[in-house]
Amino acid sequence: MALASFITLPYKLEREQPPFESNEIKTPESLPRYFIREMTKPGAKVFDPFVGLGTTMFVAEELKRVPYGIEADPRRHEWVAGQMEHWMNVLCTDSARAASIGLPKMDISLTAPPFMAINHKWNPLYGGDPSKDGYDVYLKRMQHIYKQVAQVMKRNAPVIVQVDNIPGRTFTPLIRDLSNAISKVLKLENEVTIAWQGGRDDYRHTHCLIFKNAAV
Ligand SMILES: C[S@@+](CC[C@H](N)C(=O)[O-])C[C@H]1O[C@@H](n2cnc3c(N)ncnc32)[C@H](O)[C@@H]1O
Repeated sequence: MALASFITLPYKLEREQPPFESNEIKTPESLPRYFIREMTKPGAKVFDPFVGLGTTMFVAEELKRVPYGIEADPRRHEWVAGQMEHWMNVLCTDSARAASIGLPKMDISLTAPPFMAINHKWNPLYGGDPSKDGYDVYLKRMQHIYKQVAQVMKRNAPVIVQVDNIPGRTFTPLIRDLSNAISKVLKLENEVTIAWQGGRDDYRHTHCLIFKNAAV
């Protein structure tokens, strides 16, 4: 189905956050709710390779879809899995292992991956391991992770990546760079801009890249 390329969604964080986190890493529930409703049917398998605080997992269960996810941080993993009916579908590991941990074929993938600024060294995909620092290593690793993700997706299934550019004195064109990296392993089909209704002054909109699990 054709998605609108510009939509408006409410910016409202609906769930209590764990005491060990701020709201910074959480996506409003309205975003996964929109894409899961538009692009899947009840019973569909929904995959998030970067679970974070579980927004995609919780919304998938609310919509009677079946969530699967990976989260590397044990504290976040435990907090999310502990509130889920399908808790055994959320694994605490590196999403680079997605293709080798016995996951079933998924109908849709949706996530906000960890972001990295071009001038930072700390690579969030390796928990800051100093031997894996730098933006280029981050982009290569993201490409590798999405190569694994592609292997657990059904053919032609949508893979949605929420990403924003990072402003500042050194501007990071992360939308361009992640689309370039991931489009080597998945077919880039569309980009949807989401305007937040009632959002914070410093966060008025976001972007979703829509890939398809098809030959590139
Ligand atoms: C931006 S957050 C996801 C936010 C999520 N969409 C939400 O609304 O709660 C990214 C998550 O990816 C996790 N992460 C980072 N590197 C990872 C890796 N290699 N494998 C799995 N998870 C990873 C981080 O611990 C973090 O919780």
